[in-house]
Amino acid sequence: MRIKFNIMTHNPTPGTPPRILFVCLGNICRSPAAEGVMRAIVDEQDPAPDCWDIDSAGTGRYHIGELPDHRMRLHARRRGLDLTHHCRQVTASDFDDFDLIIGMDDSNLSNLRRIAPSPEAEKKIHAMSEFFSPSAHYDYVPDPYYEGAEGFELVLDLLQDGCQNLYDRIRNAPETIL
Ligand code: 4NP
Repeated sequence: MRIKFNIMTHNPTPGTPPRILFVCLGNICRSPAAEGVMRAIVDEQDPAPDCWDIDSAGTGRYHIGELPDHRMRLHARRRGLDLTHHCRQVTASDFDDFDLIIGMDDSNLSNLRRIAPSPEAEKKIHAMSEFFSPSAHYDYVPDPYYEGAEGFELVLDLLQDGCQNLYDRIRNAPETIL
């Protein structure tokens, strides 16, 4: 689900928040959690939260239309996050509609590079781990689908760290990622 607002430009106008798409495989665990975490940060910290366009999608099509996995929703809710996104598959047109396309792991990133319609569009792809603090000790967001509660907690820990750093980077040094 998106926050309403959009100026349909390919490059964000200076001062305009970039449109952000988080991507994983199923779009029922990691990327909708990233969307919820980022939206909460923007709602709490940004002077103009309605100006942000934040969404998520999956490279796979197994769960289209579904709400996030009930375990992801439970763990997110314990941190005050309500995940209401409905699963959708990423498309080539997402490269027109978003400025930053952020994959959770190497497989997501290689799938995104395959879908990117042009070399210019490919430059919009980033790894979530680019925004982790060094203390995170991870270089990807592990898939929690076949894991226990600690897998979901780890995903949320990584995303809360990475999304805060992403937000700070957008506010303080957007030219370094856009
Ligand atoms: P996600 O997790 O990519 O973080 O949404 C997964 C969800 C479902 C499946 C794989 C990963 N699946 O194979 O159905």
